[in-house]
Parts: sequence; C-alpha cells; structure tokens
Amino acid sequence: MPFSDYQTALVTGASSGMGAAIVRRLRREGLTVHALARSREPLLKLAEDTGCIAHVMDVADLAAVTRLAAEVPFDILVNNAGVDSPRKFLQATPDDIDLLIDVNLRAVLHLCRLVVPGMVARDRGHVFNITSIAAAYHFGGNSTYHATKAAVSMLTGQLRQDAFGKRVRVTEICPGRVATDIFAHVHGDSADTHARFIEGFELPQAEDIADAVAYCIAAPVSVNIGHMEITPTLQVPGGLQTTRPEKPQA
Ligand SMILES: NC(=O)c1ccc[n+]([C@@H]2O[C@H](COP(=O)([O-])OP(=O)(O)OC[C@H]3O[C@@H](n4cnc5c(N)ncnc54)[C@H](OP(=O)(O)O)[C@@H]3O)[C@@H](O)[C@H]2O)c1
Repeated sequence: MPFSDYQTALVTGASSGMGAAIVRRLRREGLTVHALARSREPLLKLAEDTGCIAHVMDVADLAAVTRLAAEVPFDILVNNAGVDSPRKFLQATPDDIDLLIDVNLRAVLHLCRLVVPGMVARDRGHVFNITSIAAAYHFGGNSTYHATKAAVSMLTGQLRQDAFGKRVRVTEICPGRVATDIFAHVHGDSADTHARFIEGFELPQAEDIADAVAYCIAAPVSVNIGHMEITPTLQVPGGLQTTRPEKPQA
C-alpha cells in the first residue's frame, strides 16, 4: 500500500532522534503527521520546519492520548517513544520499573488498543513498533528495558494475529546502536558519553531508521515486512560490542 493510500500518521517520541527523523520523512511524502513528545521547544521547531502537527504530551497520559486517538483516524502509528535507565535488576528502583513500563510498554499497548480497531474497520493501516535488539538478546544491566521491549516484540506479532484478514500491516524495527541523543538522555550529556558511544564509530543515523520505515510503507499492500533488525555493520550480532573502523594500513 503506497504512501498515497495513507493520509495521517502519529509518531510518538518525535522531539529528537528517530522520531523526529521519521516525522521529517513522512512529511516529505506528503502525509499529515501528528508528532507527540513532552519537550515543547524541539517539537514546535519540528512543526515549524516540517508542517507536522505538534502534540506536547506525555505518551503515558492516557486521557490525552485517548482524546487524540478519538479525534484522528490514524493510518500509520509509529510507537517510537522510549526510555532506559540502565541498571542491573538487583539495583532496580520502583521508579525505574514504573517509568519504563509506562513509556515503553503501557503506552504502546494503549495506543494500539485505541488506534488499531479503526485500521481494521477501514481495512487500512500500518503500525510500527520501534523495539531494540534488547527485545531479542540478553545484555547485562538493562533488565527492565529488555523486559519492556520483548513484551512489545510479542505484541507486534499478536497484532498481526488479531488483525488477520485485514490489510493492517505491522512492522517491528529492532535497532542496535544508532547515533541519536539517547545516550546523552540516558547517561548524561557529556563529552565522555559522546566518546563512549558515538565518537569514531560508523553508526546508522536516525535518518536510516526513517528510510527503513518509508521502505516498509512504500512496499505493495501485499507485502508486510514484519521484522527488521538494523545495527551498525561493526556491531557484533546479538551483542552490544561495537568497534571503530580499523585505520587503513600505512
Ligand atoms: N538509539 C539507539 O541506539 C537505540 C537502540 C535501540 C532501540 N532504540 C529505541 O528507539 C526509540 C527512539 O530512540 P532514540 O534513539 O531516537 O532516542 P531519543 O533521542 O532519546 O528519543 C526518545 C524520544 O522519546 C520521547 N519520550 C520519552 N519519554 C516520553 C514520554 N513520557 N512521552 C512522550 N515521549 C517521550 C522523547 O521525547 P521527550 O523527552 O521530549 O518526551 C524523545 O523524543 C526508543 O524506543 C529507543 O528505546 C534506540
């Protein structure tokens, strides 16, 4: 089902990184794009730059997302908002657990509950769940993140089961390390964080994830791309280890 068959999209976590890039990409295709995040300034700037409709909103605010979903018949839903609070489970705090469940999982479940029935009724729609390679593999120190992303991974398949027989496509995108501000948001915005995660690495950019989303949408309606794992070429499969390119031999 090419872009021209869809009219409206909702992208959560649109104030930075992949979400902002997806908004830009979908606007370039001429869709009406609703962009949702809490940070007012970057969201309003994105709206000014792209013509998207900004919703300064916490994705975990159930009353607010319920109102929005009732107002707009979304053809495309991109569940992208996500947070992490790296810690071994032995040191997990109640607040960490609640926050990750609320943003990474509960909000996704509710948005799917609110939006997918309309897609089924219209026989038209595409849901993207941005999970992580953490949905499929174990790494130390991110237990609640793994649990929430794995839950959304399962939900992605379940949506296809429950929408069976209708032209509702569902795609899980599982990024490895992507060059966004997530590391600054999680570990603090410092030179040290930048050096640890970004500097000198060859990483996919947020725009590469947006291009993958666009590719899935542009595929014919008979084609559902269910799962995409997108990592740096220089990231070990199934792990976090990422290496910098070797210097050319002198
Ligand atoms: N970058 C990576 O290496 C990587 C790898 C694997 C998976 N992922 C996943 O990819 C997705 C996008 O991450 P990113 O790298 O683009 O990170 P990012 O730059 O930190 O963006 C995260 C987005 O989520 C939004 N968000 C967080 N809490 C929210 C809330 N309560 N309500 C509404 N929006 C909220 C943030 O906006 P506000 O703070 O303004 O609300 C921001 O726009 C996430 O689900 C992340 O888990 C990223």
